[in-house]
Amino acid sequence: MSNPSLLILPGDGIGPEVMAEVRKVIDWFGEKRGIRFDVSEDLVGGCAYDAHGTPLTDATMAKAQEVDAVLLGAVGGPKYDKLDFSVKPERGLLRLRKEMDLFANLRPAQCFDALADFSSLKKDIVSGLDIMIIRELTSGVYFGEPRGIIKEGNERVGINTQRYTESEIARVARSAFELARKRSNKVCSMEKANVMESGVLWRDVVQEIHDAEYPDVELSHMYADAGAMQLTRWPKQFDVIVTDNLFGDLLSDLAAMLTGSLGMLPSASLGLPMANGRPKALYEPVHGSAPDIAGTGKANPCACILSFAMALRYSFDLGDEATRLEKAVEKVLADGVRTADLMQSGDGTSASTVEMGQAVIAALDASL
Ligand code: IPM
Ligand code: MN
Repeated sequence: MSNPSLLILPGDGIGPEVMAEVRKVIDWFGEKRGIRFDVSEDLVGGCAYDAHGTPLTDATMAKAQEVDAVLLGAVGGPKYDKLDFSVKPERGLLRLRKEMDLFANLRPAQCFDALADFSSLKKDIVSGLDIMIIRELTSGVYFGEPRGIIKEGNERVGINTQRYTESEIARVARSAFELARKRSNKVCSMEKANVMESGVLWRDVVQEIHDAEYPDVELSHMYADAGAMQLTRWPKQFDVIVTDNLFGDLLSDLAAMLTGSLGMLPSASLGLPMANGRPKALYEPVHGSAPDIAGTGKANPCACILSFAMALRYSFDLGDEATRLEKAVEKVLADGVRTADLMQSGDGTSASTVEMGQAVIAALDASL
């Protein structure tokens, strides 16, 4: 049997730098654990635009559909700000999400003990924090029609449409309930049912799926604005949060920052099972392309490395190996290795991207 396949799309900014460290981790699993992947690499985002005039070619899209999992770095940068909307780097990522139908975006916000001081919130509010935001990723206002900027009389009008079908809500709700059963069995659903019809429907459908299929899971509902407030007031009240595409974008950044650094947080975007039983899947760090530090060796590769850990768990059913990798990262932090994003002024010298990668490999070696 051939090895499972991975398509690596490093993208722009710090994407290639952090992905280079992930490649070393992938090689480590091949050499030391006999877990081998057929790895190919391609372009997405601004670099794809530079090479081909589009942020994602049809050929790369086709490859992404064929492989067992896609690993993405980051897309975008100031160089591309002026481009037409249709060819912006972000469109490459959105096309991958949409055409692979990756409707469930898992964004864990976990506070590493060694970093609890880093949060802008008090330590007792964030230490031990472990929540999972499930963001709907293929619909809502990101994709709804009509959209555009039209002329009405003598002024322009910007239009986007929030649109959700019952089945779109139901499938992401099921993902949330399934995941909650493997965690603390609690789901909080967030929308704006007080002002949006799509929110009313969202609340109804989540409740129906719960009552019919997951009555054992504790379910609550919250308006998304109140949810943002509760996330900063007492985040540990949550286990799994399920929400729509736009609210999920905002709330997951908020939740991520509770943990101290965006540089630590991975994500998984999952779709329906393929013929081989594995879900369609794309893994990417939550941080962006960070053009301000690109090329300086300051980027933290941990979020991207932890995204590969999520791939081991969710695509390849290698939960134990995922835990091994997560523990290795935890150990490195406990040992005091810090990239610049994890330092406060006066903290001494920071580790470079490569040094952080080396420390993780050393911790993996020590795990054997
Ligand atoms: C994210 C990003 C993307 C989004 C951008 C880059 C299109 O902010 O993954 O959260 O808005 O979904
Ligand atoms: Mn975002």
